[in-house]
Amino acid sequence: MKTEVLIIGGGPSGLLLSQLLNRAGVATVVLERTSRERVLARIRAGVLEAGTVGLLREAGVAARLDKEGLPHDGCYLSDDELMVHINFYELTGKRVMVYGQTEVTADLYKAQDEMGTSIIHEVEDVVIQDLDQKTSFVEYTVHGERKRIDCSYVVGCDGFHGVSRNTIPVEARTEFERVYPFGWLGILSRTPPANEELIYANSSHGFALCSMRNENLSRYYLQVPLSDSVDQWSDERFWAELKRRVPSETAESLVTGASIEKSIAPLRSFVSEPLRWGNLFLVGDATHIVPPTGAKGLNLAVSDVYYLHQALITAVKQDQRAPLDGYSEQALARIWKAMRFSWQMTTMLHQFDGEDSFSAQMRKASLSHLARSETARRDLAENYVGLPF
Ligand code: APR
Ligand code: PHB
Repeated sequence: MKTEVLIIGGGPSGLLLSQLLNRAGVATVVLERTSRERVLARIRAGVLEAGTVGLLREAGVAARLDKEGLPHDGCYLSDDELMVHINFYELTGKRVMVYGQTEVTADLYKAQDEMGTSIIHEVEDVVIQDLDQKTSFVEYTVHGERKRIDCSYVVGCDGFHGVSRNTIPVEARTEFERVYPFGWLGILSRTPPANEELIYANSSHGFALCSMRNENLSRYYLQVPLSDSVDQWSDERFWAELKRRVPSETAESLVTGASIEKSIAPLRSFVSEPLRWGNLFLVGDATHIVPPTGAKGLNLAVSDVYYLHQALITAVKQDQRAPLDGYSEQALARIWKAMRFSWQMTTMLHQFDGEDSFSAQMRKASLSHLARSETARRDLAENYVGLPF
């Protein structure tokens, strides 16, 4: 088999890239390790930047998002004393959209089906070859049979644990990493949201986030030690702890109920540079991870896709490779700014075990500065709604 662009990974990055390329007449094949059902069972973050929404519209996959997504003009940041409203729309003229990543992925699968693109599920042992030749190829096993696809370009959209990044020789890569000493315990519940806006709550008991999916589906998170497991957190314990961490008016009016999903995710900042090796290009979680504070993960993957789809179309349709040569540098310039923002939000809002009293004062001062300075709020808002592509 032969294709122009072979995409490894059928998560949101791989599917959006495939969608944009096929609409421009560039043929792709997507190889995905698991079944579609398993991809769609993952619950991930749910805040889309204005630029992400724009690209999803351009890709022709925003009809349901435009109907069911919840436009948000702002959010709250709180601690034990303050509750600060950040009005994105007043400060930047832009909004974000609350719409689950799982739904974005489902919409992309539907659109890809309608276009009749090639997505091969349950592939194993993917090996990428000849990245330094004019034509490269990828071998994989599906249902016990070894297969080969020749292609001009390979794009690694296979997440943090994929094969693509590790295909680049270790001496040609530079990795940057910060592992945080806690995780987020998340639950989904069929209850009305705690507030019409998201609340990012720092407290002396640790961080909490009140988010949502719709008027009767809420998503909440608690900062927990990495050693905790989900079975240590009954629903009762979760709600009691959440109430200790959010502002008292929010705690008093909180509607609780049975959780329908519960999971713990570690927090990490990670970048591997460069994003290109010969004919291989890396996108999304395959080459960078952000902690979820600020919801940059999916949005950052989408900006990589934005740069790369244009560069690939120019290469394939006009035989000009200069944009491809510039992809890594162009994407990294934006990636590092989102890295800085999500690290800063994480540092400002979480309790770090064993920290000194000075650190706690710094967090308090950051929030009180935000409460008093419109300039500080605008800076946060500008980053939260997303820097321009
Ligand atoms: N071969 C084929 N597919 C693979 C392989 C492999 N060796 N390894 C991983 N995959 C698949 C995974 O099963 C998954 O479906 O690649 C996909 C990667 O998807 P994500 O991890 O969701 O990454 P990405 O598409 O870049 O999405 C961006 O931003 O921070 C986030 O949580 C957010 O997942 C979101 C991401
Ligand atoms: C979510 O709704 O899952 C969510 C929202 C904002 C974040 C992270 C996760 O910063």
